[in-house]
Amino acid sequence: MLGVVVLRPVGAAGLLPGMWVRRALPWRPSSGQPGFLGTRARRTASRLPGPVSGPGPPLSGPRVVDLRSDTVTRPSQEMRLAMAGAEVGDDDYGEDPTVNVMCHCHRRGAQVLLGEKSHIHVFEHGGVAQVAGIHSELLQDLPNGTFCLDELECKIQQAHKSQYHPRPELICLENTHCSAGGRVLPLKYLQEVHQLAQQYGLRIHIDGARVLNAAVALGIPATHISQHCDSISLCLSKGVGAPAGALLAGSKELISEAWRVRKLLGGGMRQAGVLAAAGLVGLSHMEETLQRDHSNARCFAQGACAFGSSLCSINPATVETNIVMVTALTPRLTPARLCELMEAVSEEEIAVTGQAISVRLFPWGKNCLRAVWHCDVSPHDTQLAVNKLRFVLDKCEQ
Ligand SMILES: Cc1ncc(COP(=O)(O)O)c(C=O)c1O
Repeated sequence: MLGVVVLRPVGAAGLLPGMWVRRALPWRPSSGQPGFLGTRARRTASRLPGPVSGPGPPLSGPRVVDLRSDTVTRPSQEMRLAMAGAEVGDDDYGEDPTVNVMCHCHRRGAQVLLGEKSHIHVFEHGGVAQVAGIHSELLQDLPNGTFCLDELECKIQQAHKSQYHPRPELICLENTHCSAGGRVLPLKYLQEVHQLAQQYGLRIHIDGARVLNAAVALGIPATHISQHCDSISLCLSKGVGAPAGALLAGSKELISEAWRVRKLLGGGMRQAGVLAAAGLVGLSHMEETLQRDHSNARCFAQGACAFGSSLCSINPATVETNIVMVTALTPRLTPARLCELMEAVSEEEIAVTGQAISVRLFPWGKNCLRAVWHCDVSPHDTQLAVNKLRFVLDKCEQ
């Protein structure tokens, strides 16, 4: 595997509502309504650093704990300085020193085997089909993010050398698996998929947007994971905490092809070193940051599980990295409603707890919501989020 970096702008998934609102509005808790900030105030609150509240009512607005995604981080001072001072060149000519440079299906109608809940399949506008003309054969994602290997082999076998089926050429895995709640794909499983791919002449791509979380959780270098695939991508804008960018690693030939395809898609970048500089700073702290994120996620899961609520549940045993999935157990409290209540700050909350905490979460499907830890969430914020959940659930159970 040759280390090659292709930087690209962060995708639409990173641009969440409210991120563009900058105008500061005076904050006040909502009165009358059972505790909601108006949309504008809510958005503005998300931009306010806000002090960590001690006892007594907060003076300058709620403390916002943003757990919607690990893409919401703001670049650290160190990153901003590195970006300002980055040595740059024209990356389109391969001349950007900070980028430090570091495509599989060639035929239209080729087939890629991937998970029905994978990010590539669900969240990218079917780009595989729209842009590349590739047919997707979907596999069931098991709760731990893996495929059933028998199902995988069966699907490959039925199309292998068939005159009627699309030609299977690629298997895509996601590690960590986001929809499964940041689960880490076991190394033995990667080995087995790799063997299967070799047996039938297929290649493997790992969507490793959060592969560094997987490596840190397993306590191994990321190369122990990437050795089982032909290409792997990872996001700098997630756990690494950079504002934009992604890396793609593969053979020299693959990267040269990826470079050509990136150009075809209009993704060529010029002085990309400004972005690479932030990524390099994030990568230099990566292990410590991700370990802390994982530990915070575990603490939240354990803290919340201890309530024994009948309204929602969390299984701490499935929290392997920085993502916690909360399952709503009753239609009385839907994921969307729980998200609203966690984000809203009421006068009652301030009176009862002496704090104003706005926790932002992301509804994830019909029965679930997602909380994601990142470098802007401290252990103290995590405890505040646990407290807020307790307050909200107690209120709902009254
Ligand atoms: C598993 C997974 N893969 C890929 C991506 C795409 O990353 P980007 O938005 O940086 O293009 C995401 C983003 O949320 C993701 O969660």
